[in-house]
Amino acid sequence: MNKKVNKILITGGAGYIGSHVTERLLKAKLNVILLDNLSRGHRKLINKKVKFIKADTKNLNLLKKIIYKNKIKTIIHLAGYANVAESQVNKRKYFKNNILGTLNVVKACKNSNVKNIIFSSSCSIYGNVIGNVDEKKKPNPSSYYAYTKYKCENIIKKYSKKFNYKYIILRYFNVAGASSSGKIGEIKNKNARLIKNLAIQYFKSKPIININGSNYKTKDGTCIRDYIHVSDIAEIHYKCIKHLDEYSKSNIFNCGYGKGYSVLEIANIFKKMRKNTSINFVNKRPGDVGQVYANIKKFKKIFRWKPKYNNMTKILRSSIKWENKIN
Ligand SMILES: NC(=O)c1ccc[n+]([C@@H]2O[C@H](COP(=O)([O-])OP(=O)(O)OC[C@H]3O[C@@H](n4cnc5c(N)ncnc54)[C@H](O)[C@@H]3O)[C@@H](O)[C@H]2O)c1
Repeated sequence: MNKKVNKILITGGAGYIGSHVTERLLKAKLNVILLDNLSRGHRKLINKKVKFIKADTKNLNLLKKIIYKNKIKTIIHLAGYANVAESQVNKRKYFKNNILGTLNVVKACKNSNVKNIIFSSSCSIYGNVIGNVDEKKKPNPSSYYAYTKYKCENIIKKYSKKFNYKYIILRYFNVAGASSSGKIGEIKNKNARLIKNLAIQYFKSKPIININGSNYKTKDGTCIRDYIHVSDIAEIHYKCIKHLDEYSKSNIFNCGYGKGYSVLEIANIFKKMRKNTSINFVNKRPGDVGQVYANIKKFKKIFRWKPKYNNMTKILRSSIKWENKIN
């Protein structure tokens, strides 16, 4: 692998997923550069072996310069805000950062060496679904965050021919866990996600699990999601780069395990690991859908992929281990 892909810019490289993707690509000895404005990222997640550029995707001229000067061939675009509740009340902020930021990334590819873009989309673009969902399902975003991801997908598709790049859109389901290297993991930003919250609670003398909503139309009334370990997500990016190198073909893939867990099911698994945990039902969060989990036939078929960490106890243990390390 090399000529068509190698010189990879990861936007959002100081974030949770970006740091894991970086670790995986470095293991494959690929040439990686990180870009992040550190608005939500963390210096301690930045891999010391790579060049880091503090920059904002909202600055088109700077992006152009960085891409040109570093002869970038592949962009893994992860930079963005990702908080559903925040997006509902701060639409303008999300519009500027996620949509205009992505438009800039794409525009910066014009007349450049960039041949590939891998984009971090989200299962939230599907909206509420019954059963599992495949990539052909018409998007129906139910939060503003989801809407920004949907618009970004369209921007990336729209300019692909004009600016001469291939794309792979990855629709992540819920990413959780931490690298077994012990060096990186999720650091709490406001409104931490479920698994991260559980890891935090694990170290409290009286752990409490707050469950948002108990009357969704699901088997136990709590939300159902598909959780995927962050190291499997990182592996998927590596496989996509190899794929682009070999086939130069645009595509869209769901990234999950194809199994839905309800929040209550996860809470009960956690309770077995941490006795005297209490469960507390609180209000629904605006923009949350009842259930969504992936149909992953397409990815499995093309990549003959077998996930490594497909087990909720493993995911919880790896998050708890990381939490222990950072506290
Ligand atoms: N974590 C998940 O479960 C999940 C699920 C679906 C999609 N995603 C998407 O994956 C991407 C990465 O998510 P994450 O969980 O690592 O989040 P994160 O907040 O840890 O990482 C995002 C990074 O982007 C940076 N950033 C934000 N706006 C920027 C800008 N304008 N210019 C430069 N840098 C900017 C932040 O500082 C941060 O380091 C996001 O786009 C998110 O929407 C995440």
